[in-house]
Amino acid sequence: MHRLETSVSSTPRPTLGLAAQLTRRRPIDVPLTDGSQPALRRSLGLWQLTMISIGATLGTGVFVVLGTAVPMAGPAVWIAFIVAGITAMLSALSYAEMAGSVPVSGSSYSYAYATLGEGLAWVCGWCLILEYAVSVAAVAVGAGEYVNDALGVFGLELPRELVAGPDAGGIVNLPAAALVLIAMFLLVRGTSESITVNTIMVILKIATMLLFIVIAFTAFQAGNLEPLAPMGTAGIAAAASRLFFSYIGFDAASTAGEEALNPRRDLPRAILLSLGIVTVIYILVAIAALGAHPWTEFTENGPTLAAILDEITHTPWITLVMAIGAVIAIASVVLTVLYGQTRILMSMSRDGMVPRVFQRISAKSHTPVAGTLIIGIAVAITAALIPLGELADATSIGTLFAFALVNLAVIYLRRTRPTAPRAFRVPLYPVVPILGFLCCVGLMVSLGSNTWIVFVIWMIIGVIWYLVYSRSHSVVGALSADEYEQAHAAGLAHAERLAREDDNPNAESERDSRS
Ligand code: ALA
Repeated sequence: MHRLETSVSSTPRPTLGLAAQLTRRRPIDVPLTDGSQPALRRSLGLWQLTMISIGATLGTGVFVVLGTAVPMAGPAVWIAFIVAGITAMLSALSYAEMAGSVPVSGSSYSYAYATLGEGLAWVCGWCLILEYAVSVAAVAVGAGEYVNDALGVFGLELPRELVAGPDAGGIVNLPAAALVLIAMFLLVRGTSESITVNTIMVILKIATMLLFIVIAFTAFQAGNLEPLAPMGTAGIAAAASRLFFSYIGFDAASTAGEEALNPRRDLPRAILLSLGIVTVIYILVAIAALGAHPWTEFTENGPTLAAILDEITHTPWITLVMAIGAVIAIASVVLTVLYGQTRILMSMSRDGMVPRVFQRISAKSHTPVAGTLIIGIAVAITAALIPLGELADATSIGTLFAFALVNLAVIYLRRTRPTAPRAFRVPLYPVVPILGFLCCVGLMVSLGSNTWIVFVIWMIIGVIWYLVYSRSHSVVGALSADEYEQAHAAGLAHAERLAREDDNPNAESERDSRS
């Protein structure tokens, strides 16, 4: 197998003009390790990959954001879930095609690098930090409230100073930091251990959702769902933009390309399966909640799902179950999203976009230990102390930007390599990726101006980082024209060989050696 590092000196040097470097594409399927690191261990099958994506997706969106979207759309909030779900599905189809074509660990960053060039790949990777690291800090912050809800059933309460950060009237959000640190230690121990814990948590959080659906349907009153759309289509659209948050994370399986047993076959399936499962759960939860509780009584502050069940059953244990369910849901989002961020930074580090420490793999646990510790500690501190405010809102823009690029990547690859083997093909091409792209841009435009200002500042910082660090450390950027052509040719041959192997289940040996 051709490895780029054989032809790159240890101190990369810029050989290209800026424009040429920004548009230089990473050769598909050529590993960019420096050869000194052990490989990640391939241990994840379709089931575990699906659990990673559900783990990263089903969380505060349905527990908290659903309630805040009801005043916007009325009982039609379930339709808003469908609209947001269709937007997510259009991009998920593109993710599935790319994951089956470029099955490495860098998710949309790697897809953009292989198709649209280094400049847009860097922008995409920088956006993914918003989608992953910043959002995980924002999601973890919610844990403090739920820990207190659970303790409240026993008449206990942690002081506000210890369950909320300075932005929310406290000093430090200890439950948030604790969740992040526990997830960090699990990830350091090993991927399959972490994913086993995640699978248990996903089963528990789905069980909590099913419990809610079953109990809420016992109090269902059809009259509560009328009139269906009191705020009209504009209300449904606004609610859909807000509820899009609850779908963020379905792409998490695409960060596990190098730990999947059969990435080309299973990554596309896991992405689509997880999105289908959460969409059905969200719609049922919305119909059950609105059928049990009049929409006019929903405000930005509730009622929570737990309060709705409490009203129906009048039993305190239900609050306890829902609060524990919420903490578990948040914990599994934290675990899987942190996992994804470490793998994306590992890919970016191999390409020279971020420091080399992020690509170091422990020979013992076969995980990127140093990178996991750095990210875990940074996210724990952020979640515990730093007011995230507008930055958290900017996660949706960052995510939508990354999704938009994946839709473009599909179109690019179909045009430039029409006959390349693809484990999954977007149906109705090119309608689906074009619609996916337009939906992402549409939702981005509908987000508020403050969010845009924060996003622009974030991007300016990213551009400075690229010019100061990544440009001079880029591995692909440092290749001479000959080396680059050679790597592309080797990459194409390698990709075709891997695709043939995946069609032949007995060819384990070569597959194992590809990372
Ligand atoms: N989709 C994730 C959640 O709802 C971010 O928590």
